Amino acid sequence: MKKRVGILLIFAILFTAFLANWTYSYYQGLEEAYIPINEVEKGPVIPSEIKVFERSDKALDYARIPIDEQHRRTIATYYDNRAYPGAPPSIPHPVSEKMGIGGNNCLQCHENGGFVEKFNAYAPVTPHPEMINCKQCHIEQQVQRTFVATDFYKKPAPEIGVNNALPGSPPVIPHQLQMRENCLACHAGPSAVKEIWVSHPERVNCRQCHVPKLHEIQNVKLFLRTNNGSR
Ligand code: HEC
Ligand code: HEC
Ligand code: HEC
Ligand code: HEC
Repeated sequence: MKKRVGILLIFAILFTAFLANWTYSYYQGLEEAYIPINEVEKGPVIPSEIKVFERSDKALDYARIPIDEQHRRTIATYYDNRAYPGAPPSIPHPVSEKMGIGGNNCLQCHENGGFVEKFNAYAPVTPHPEMINCKQCHIEQQVQRTFVATDFYKKPAPEIGVNNALPGSPPVIPHQLQMRENCLACHAGPSAVKEIWVSHPERVNCRQCHVPKLHEIQNVKLFLRTNNGSR
């Protein structure tokens, strides 16, 4: 009798163990397979260059945008609207009195650009969407002419297309970097000035190849090796 109870007990234990095991593996099987994502360590950030990447997520779109020849801006019209190179451009279109602080209205058009039917132009992308009080620096045009003639000297803008050391090498950045940290805002997209439109917005890290111009590039004479065996 005792023997039989013992055997039954062993079977009962084995059966419950089997049940427990089966339920456990059944529920494990229901869970989604999950491979933990390894945390990738971020590289060091250079604070003075961080704005270069501000619009990088749009780079591939910029590379694919077809060119709208009819509405491209030129460097001449670009500088018509500025008192001197680097000065804030005046606002060439009507804006209501209330627009400005908070920047909501301005940023609707100027954060990412796009074609504006009523002005028949692409809105230029602002390189500084974080400076929300736009009208602190940008004022509306009231008249098309200047009031009185002055002898204000308008410093000429740096030349374009002459900034390469060698044909095909990356041109140096001929302008200051203050207020011009956000390269893609001015150099890519349909509102970008024709002459400075970049053929490679997708290369992302602009300052890896383009360095600021620190001094004038001078034409050097062609180097000829004499090779007369005297040395
Ligand atoms: C309805 C869309 C729209 C709104 C809102 C708007 N803009 Fe514009 N803005 C444009 C367009 C389009 C142009 C280009 C006009 C042209 O080239 O003739 C432009 C041009 C400009 C320019 C000249 C840029 C340059 O490079 O010469 C400035 C500065 C400017 N806007 C500032 C502002 C400010 C500040 C506000 C808010 C008070 C504002 N805009 C609101 C569409 C808009
Ligand atoms: C602290 C002054 C200041 C404030 C505030 C400011 N801007 Fe500017 N903005 C400038 C200057 C200076 C430039 C010219 C930069 C250059 O050419 O080097 C400029 C250039 C621009 C341009 C022309 C970009 C191009 O293609 O050359 C646009 C568009 C613009 N700003 C829009 C705005 C809008 C919209 C706001 C508000 C959200 C704003 N700005 C706030 C000073 C300012
Ligand atoms: C506010 C608009 C603006 C921003 C932002 C800007 N640029 Fe420019 N860039 C220009 C203009 C306009 C020119 C033409 C020369 C001039 O007028 O200063 C130019 C010229 C250049 C040229 C020379 C092109 C040639 O063919 O000679 C290079 C290279 C350049 N920029 C690189 C950069 C880089 C890199 C950045 C980002 C760090 C940058 N730019 C940011 C407006 C801008
Ligand atoms: C891997 C190096 C490299 C990177 C990164 C790079 N460029 Fe260039 N860039 C060049 C070279 C090389 C040229 C000269 C092309 C030629 O002469 O055919 C050039 C030319 C230019 C020009 C003159 C017009 C043109 O397209 O030929 C501009 C403007 C310019 N680059 C802006 C930029 C901007 C803005 C960025 C960041 C999105 C950038 N570059 C990233 C190498 C680079």
